[in-house]
Amino acid sequence: MKIISSIGEMESYSRDARQKKQKIGFVPTMGAFHEGHLSLMRAAEKECDIVIVSVFVNRLQFSPNEDFDKYPRDMEQDKKLAEAAGVSVLFAPTADEMYPEDFSTHVEVTARCARSLCAKRRVGHFKGVTTVLAKLFNICRPNEAYFGQKDAQQAVIVKKMVRDLNLPITVQVMSIVREKDGLAMSSRNAYLSPEERVQATALYGALKEARNIIGAGEISAARVKNKIEQILKKEKKLKIDYVEIVNAETLESVDRIDSNTLIAIAVFVGETRLIDNIMVSRATANL
Ligand code: PAF
Repeated sequence: MKIISSIGEMESYSRDARQKKQKIGFVPTMGAFHEGHLSLMRAAEKECDIVIVSVFVNRLQFSPNEDFDKYPRDMEQDKKLAEAAGVSVLFAPTADEMYPEDFSTHVEVTARCARSLCAKRRVGHFKGVTTVLAKLFNICRPNEAYFGQKDAQQAVIVKKMVRDLNLPITVQVMSIVREKDGLAMSSRNAYLSPEERVQATALYGALKEARNIIGAGEISAARVKNKIEQILKKEKKLKIDYVEIVNAETLESVDRIDSNTLIAIAVFVGETRLIDNIMVSRATANL
C-alpha cells in the first residue's frame, strides 16, 4: 500500500490510473478506522481496480465547541487496517496544504436536505463536509465514492452535490455496521465511559422497537416518535437531541410512515453526541 501526503503526488497517481482506464474507488474518512470504515474499503476493493482512502480530520466541519482537538487519531493502526482491507493508497494530506492561509472557497448544498436534522444543531458542518469532499474528489478523481448509511444525511447531501455539480462519480451508500449489541459503529464510541456505553445501546433498542410497532401496523409518525422518546428517556445518561421521522430522499418530516421513511435520531450520551437511523416502510417493516 502506498502512503501519499502530497496533493500533487496524489493528483498524478490518479491521473495515471485514469489514463490506464483503471476504475478508482474512493473512501473518504477522518481516520480512527473501525469495522464501518473497513466495510466500505472492502466493498470498494471488490468493485474497483484501485482503492484510495483519505485520512483527514477536517477542521472545517467542526464548530469551535466541538471535538476537533480530541477526535481520535491513530495513523499507525489505520495503515495496518487499510493494508489488510486491500487499500491501494492511503492519502493523508496536511491541513496546511488542504487549507492554505488564503483559502476562501466553499461548496454548500442549500437544499432543504442540508437544513434539517443535524444541520440545525451543527451549523456549518455540512458546508465543511461538502467543501472538503469537493477538494478530495478533484484530487483523487474517483469513479465510485463510498459512504456509510450511519451518516444518512451526509450521504443525501453528497448525492445532491454530485448531481448539482455534474461530478462524474457514483455515490455508493453501504449499510450501517453495528456492534454485537446493536450500537452503530462510530469513532466517537471511544469517548463513552463503561456506564455510558451500556446505556448507548438504547439508541438502536428504541429504533428496533419503532420498527416493531410499525410492523404491527402503526403508521402515525407522531406515535412512533413518542415511543422512541419514551425508551430513550428511561436512560439517565441520555439526552435527546432530536428524533425525526422523514422522507429518506428529501429529509422532510412526514406525518405517516410511508414506503421510503427514515427514522433518524441524535442523542447525547453523557457529553458524546451519537447518531443512528433505520429505514422503515409500511410494507416491509416486518421483514
Ligand atoms: O464521514 C466522515 O468521516 C467525514 O464527514 C468525511 C466524509 C470524511 C468528510 O470529512
